[in-house]
Amino acid sequence: MSEFVHVDLKTCNYTIHIGSGLLHKAGELLLPVLASRRVVVISDEIVASLYLTQLQNSLDLAGLSYSTIVIPPGEGSKSLEQLTLVLDQLLNYKIDRNTTVIALGGGVIGDLAGFAAAIALRGLPFIQVPTTLLALVDSSIGGKTGINSWHGKNMIGSFHQPRAVLADVSVLDTLPLRHLRSGYAEMVKYSAIANPAFFSWLEQHGTAVLNGDDKVQVEAIRVSCLCKAAIVSADEYELGQRALLNLGHTFGHALEAVTEFSDVLLHGEAVAIGYGACLRLISKT
Ligand SMILES: NC(=O)c1ccc[n+]([C@@H]2O[C@H](COP(=O)([O-])OP(=O)(O)OC[C@H]3O[C@@H](n4cnc5c(N)ncnc54)[C@H](O)[C@@H]3O)[C@@H](O)[C@H]2O)c1
Repeated sequence: MSEFVHVDLKTCNYTIHIGSGLLHKAGELLLPVLASRRVVVISDEIVASLYLTQLQNSLDLAGLSYSTIVIPPGEGSKSLEQLTLVLDQLLNYKIDRNTTVIALGGGVIGDLAGFAAAIALRGLPFIQVPTTLLALVDSSIGGKTGINSWHGKNMIGSFHQPRAVLADVSVLDTLPLRHLRSGYAEMVKYSAIANPAFFSWLEQHGTAVLNGDDKVQVEAIRVSCLCKAAIVSADEYELGQRALLNLGHTFGHALEAVTEFSDVLLHGEAVAIGYGACLRLISKT
């Protein structure tokens, strides 16, 4: 069972593959969009311990040569220091402009690896293999990449679109419930800003999404990706309509900053509180 969502932009287009067990076939699925047979996989320690071997086996099967970079998990890795280390490792691997960077992980890995791909050798091809619900429905799509600065969240970065997104719901089996809920908040956001029927659907199927029903997860992710793809296609560089995707984020980012980007508040949790704050503000003005 596989679904596809196409992201059509003025500058490029790509496919989001959504299904169960896709990681085993990653090499074969991604081969058509690779510029050469050489890839570098960037992941974090937790995700690498769970899924790197699976990905490597599929790259082997497709006859691809790969190197890996594994960094510490957590928001703290979206830093200039970590970016420098990743860039150093990429260059140590003697990459060329046809080497594809594959981000295997949540939003932190996608944002950091995507930004490293955007600036190494003035731009490398890039693929997203998201492993959190938040990354499956949001951060892996749309090309926003970057790191945090002491000035604030995501203050250094660039737009760098992936060549493909491989959204395998099987990886959600190991994701803690708290992180599932954090990603679910982004689904609720799409339904609120773009699809009232999806809001009703989530009211009926939300528990199944969180309980790990593959079929329901695929459908929820498909509809979420359609919402994001439509908004990003209309406004790739956030000159207008795309800002809708930031609903609740001004409050959310402030909350993340005062909790020092720590596990006290996950990104999706901060944003969910942000929606509430935002709606209260609107109802009072
Ligand atoms: N680029 C964008 O458009 C965009 C959009 C939304 C959010 N973001 C960014 O995404 C980041 C948050 O991403 P996140 O919520 O995915 O957090 P994350 O990447 O930190 O992942 C959360 C934790 O779950 C672990 N993990 C990941 N996949 C797992 C799995 N399958 N099983 C078990 N553990 C797993 C990770 O190791 C990490 O410890 C924030 O930095 C936010 O700014 C970016």
